[in-house]
Amino acid sequence: MTTRTRILTGITTTGTPHLGNYAGAIRPAILASQDANADSFYFLADYHALIKCDDPQRIQRSRMEIAATWLAGGLDVNRVTFYRQSDIPEIPELTWLLTCVAAKGLLNRAHAYKASVDKNVESGEDPDAGISMGLYSYPVLMAADILMFNAHKVPVGRDQIQHVEMARDIGQRFNHLFGNGKEFFTMPEALIEESVATLPGLDGRKMSKSYDNTIPLFTSAKDMKDAISRIVTDSRAPGEAKDPDNSHLFTLFQAFASKAQEQEFRAELLQGLGWGEAKNRLFQLLDSQLSEPRERYHQLMSRPSDMEDLLLIGAKKARAVAAPFLAELREAVGLRSFVNQAAAPVAAKKKAAKAARFVSFREDDGSFRFRLLSAEGEQLLLSRNFADGKTAGAVTKQLQNGDALDLRTEATGFSVWLDGAAVADSAGFADETSRDAAIAALRVALTPIED
Ligand code: TRP
Repeated sequence: MTTRTRILTGITTTGTPHLGNYAGAIRPAILASQDANADSFYFLADYHALIKCDDPQRIQRSRMEIAATWLAGGLDVNRVTFYRQSDIPEIPELTWLLTCVAAKGLLNRAHAYKASVDKNVESGEDPDAGISMGLYSYPVLMAADILMFNAHKVPVGRDQIQHVEMARDIGQRFNHLFGNGKEFFTMPEALIEESVATLPGLDGRKMSKSYDNTIPLFTSAKDMKDAISRIVTDSRAPGEAKDPDNSHLFTLFQAFASKAQEQEFRAELLQGLGWGEAKNRLFQLLDSQLSEPRERYHQLMSRPSDMEDLLLIGAKKARAVAAPFLAELREAVGLRSFVNQAAAPVAAKKKAAKAARFVSFREDDGSFRFRLLSAEGEQLLLSRNFADGKTAGAVTKQLQNGDALDLRTEATGFSVWLDGAAVADSAGFADETSRDAAIAALRVALTPIED
């Protein structure tokens, strides 16, 4: 099996998706996820949203709207891993591990942070006025998003390239410090889709909420129509030839049209189609493609518990990858179980204890005795004589109950005492060293097995 390319991207949940988001990011991502070679991880970056927004209502609404938009747009949750960042507790945990290796100087250079500082300085404020640690550490959280799943490709806008580079930087540093030759993290690459044009907005600038020039996506046909009617055009009258290549209305049309539709529209504009009619054509084109997903969108929004279920399944899939990987990383930095720490000796003891065995027998005189044999079958102890089997059995039980052994050495041998009486003896040894080794072996053999 060839390894599939893992494609991962996050969507910050602060707004309502508009037509520009759809054409520029959502539609291409859904298409990319249909490639048999793609293993896509798409998530709602709702922890990132908290950095930019302190309005809980808006955060919640945006999470739902974005989830519904992607699902309505045809995202197949059986093919991709679709989840909310905040459902993956391993991500903030990894964020901390990465925070501890990320150079502060690296984060000082982040564009978003620097822009805020510059703005403060310009207006004579304290350089860090209004800047939270969240904003400052934004790239580390994003690095955790990416590195947690060892993404190969990260489709992002140009403004995010630096963040992907920082993820590489931080991941590399972690690999170097803790990998011991092993590369824990895959080095991600930013994927900038050159072919998807950024859609122009109503006024011809990039469509963006901050310019208030967006065309709504799934709210309603009427809203879409109203927005389209506000697209700025030149003042050429009906009948006058229009220049398609200098019309952002035409660019918008192009982003949704087939080649044939595009050519027909171009010809009509050149022949003097009126702008009002042109807007109508654009509306018809968009509505023909978006009315079905719009319907699905409203269905999804009216059944939030269905979306909740889908996202929890997605979280489960993501955590099945994240949890074992994080366990490895914790191990690597030294956050290890105290029990596992002693793994080697405990395992050895268990094995010996399991294998060591008591063998009882009866002497010719009718007395009961037993031998304790090591795993290797070597005699560790030979008991004294007991009048009956019950007593002999009770002694073997007591020897295995984990209490400190009362061992008394005599020359190069030793005996085992219980309640003030010798109950068993070792063989004789060549010297004290071998005797002490035998005592150690006996202690190991009698260590109770805990499960
Ligand atoms: N910062 C990204 C943005 O604003 C969103 C995001 C968060 C992201 N984590 C990510 C994108 C991980 C790609 C990979 O667009």
